[in-house]
Amino acid sequence: MLAIAYVRYGGPDVTEVMEAPVPSPAADQVLIRVRAAGLNPVDAYQRAGALRAIAPQRLPLVGGNELSGVVEAVGERVESYRPGDAVIARTGKVKLGAFAQYAVVREDIVARAPHRVDLTVAAGLPLAGLTALQALDALELRAGERILITGGAGGVGLFAIRLATLRGAHVTTTASSAGEEFVRAAGAAAVIDYHTTSPSAVGETFDKVFDLVGGEELPRLFGVTRKGGLVLSIAGPVTADAIAGDLHGLRRVLVSAVLNVRTRGIRAAARRAGVSYRYLFMHPDGPQLQSLADLVDDGRLDIVIDSTYDFADFRAAFERLESRRAKGKVLLTMP
Ligand SMILES: NC(=O)c1ccc[n+]([C@@H]2O[C@H](COP(=O)([O-])OP(=O)(O)OC[C@H]3O[C@@H](n4cnc5c(N)ncnc54)[C@H](OP(=O)(O)O)[C@@H]3O)[C@@H](O)[C@H]2O)c1
Repeated sequence: MLAIAYVRYGGPDVTEVMEAPVPSPAADQVLIRVRAAGLNPVDAYQRAGALRAIAPQRLPLVGGNELSGVVEAVGERVESYRPGDAVIARTGKVKLGAFAQYAVVREDIVARAPHRVDLTVAAGLPLAGLTALQALDALELRAGERILITGGAGGVGLFAIRLATLRGAHVTTTASSAGEEFVRAAGAAAVIDYHTTSPSAVGETFDKVFDLVGGEELPRLFGVTRKGGLVLSIAGPVTADAIAGDLHGLRRVLVSAVLNVRTRGIRAAARRAGVSYRYLFMHPDGPQLQSLADLVDDGRLDIVIDSTYDFADFRAAFERLESRRAKGKVLLTMP
């Protein structure tokens, strides 16, 4: 089969098309003929080797963290899927493998693809959708609360805005003028143009803050968060609690110690403002993904696609993703 792999750690030039054997499913896995894969900023971090301490990988590594496709074969213990089923998944965090004609994924992290959208489009749901869902759960967002979601026009942001409005929250987000129509369509009630205005300048306090941008603006968000509230980030410094589910034993102790030192400053800044700061790493979860697919089928959640590229144009797809200007998801279709 054809696959896109990272042959070394580095920039775009370490990505190559290679021939690889079709993987065989283990007892608890399904073999999926991949229709499309979604691209995510994490692909570029994995290609650069930036996540090696958390998810140790062997090179060459077939990349790709989310996919849609059709089940080709199942392992002997698989009960919920049969060949021919249309499915979606956020693949495993260490093995990845979505940028290929075939991928194996554990049954418990697979979900049935929504019927309301094309199977290619469905590839845009798993990673960003699960991230948004798990973040709003971690924030314990409730009806009537006011939430600030920074970076609302991207893959995660558009899902987060819609899911937050479905929970009955009032959503304020940051976007450029080009992103405004997208975040409004997703349900944002108020939009701050981040090119001209900082959320810290609008004089409003939010019950919950979900940060998708990080950088210099992040510490300023503490001042707009209700006292005792939480600023949850997926783009700022990684706090030790975020890796608890991914690492074990000595590696966990060592990585936690490093992360505790690295985040001492930002956690102290949050405490001084009377709030707390945490980073969230999303994780694959079949039942949660199924609940998102069901929302798509009910017409309550849209999968917004920025652009779709053929397999042969994978470098252009990465370029679009890494421009960080995508409005919604960037997809790659498999040959
Ligand atoms: N921890 C985790 O588990 C996890 C999971 C998923 C994603 N992430 C991280 O979350 C972030 C967002 O991911 P994504 O998939 O949504 O990325 P994305 O789709 O590439 O985001 C692109 C969007 O970001 C907006 N943007 C860029 N700079 C901005 C700024 N300074 N302020 C406000 N908006 C800005 C852009 O809007 P304009 O074009 O209008 O400027 C564009 O719409 C990334 O850093 C990613 O690595 C983490």
